[in-house]
Amino acid sequence: MSENVLRLSGITKAYNRGAPNEVNVLRGIDLDVGTGEVVALVAPSGAGKSTLLHIAGLLDTPDAGKVEITGQDMTGRGDRKRTRVRRSDVGFIYQFHHLLPEFSALENIVLPQLANGVSKAAAEARAQELLDRVGIADRADHRPAALSGGEQQRVAFCRALANGPKLLLADEPTGNLDPGTSDQVFAALMDLVRGTGLSAVIATHNLDLAARMDRQIRLDAGQLVAD
Ligand SMILES: Nc1ncnc2c1ncn2[C@@H]1O[C@H](COP(=O)(O)OP(=O)(O)O)[C@@H](O)[C@H]1O
Ligand SMILES: [Mg+2]
Repeated sequence: MSENVLRLSGITKAYNRGAPNEVNVLRGIDLDVGTGEVVALVAPSGAGKSTLLHIAGLLDTPDAGKVEITGQDMTGRGDRKRTRVRRSDVGFIYQFHHLLPEFSALENIVLPQLANGVSKAAAEARAQELLDRVGIADRADHRPAALSGGEQQRVAFCRALANGPKLLLADEPTGNLDPGTSDQVFAALMDLVRGTGLSAVIATHNLDLAARMDRQIRLDAGQLVAD
């Protein structure tokens, strides 16, 4: 049995295919991420980090190639199956928090659990515990607008982990924060990831942050190279 939580084979993706402005963003990506492994995806802006993470997280489909999550080949699977796997096995963190503005921090972490069939009481207990782990238990009742940028992003981390995913994908998770805050918030994310034994792919163009992960891979001209 494969120990790989994520396996990408031969992934290609172009935008505006066939048009004069065609961009071949991914040109044959192979990547294996093992259980508990934390991988840094490093590349400059425009290199295709978001495209790759969206494909790995089943938010987008490749033109060719295979995406396997926890050993399940997602090729040709319908929306329902993809949504089910995404909801239960994958956590996604965006550069901007994308929290629902009219709900509290706690509710933002409860909602994905309710969608996954968890009872309200259990979902609230888990949400509160996650907020505690990222050091903002006392902000549970605040709406996103009443939180600092770093606090908003901590809530987004909790939401991504709410359903106990096996794979975490983070797209420049501290890219919107000032350098000091970014360091603290990143440390909170790493504590959370290490404490859970999660596998993760974290995109960043910060080499100091990348150095704290198990392995660094670089996206160069549409292909992955190990650093
Ligand atoms: N929906 C789209 N339509 C056309 N081009 C796109 C689209 N999304 C991204 N691109 C282009 O693909 C390239 C890679 O983008 P992206 O994956 O967002 O890179 P990164 O996250 O590394 O900054 C860029 O040149 C970008 O302009
Ligand atoms: Mg991006």
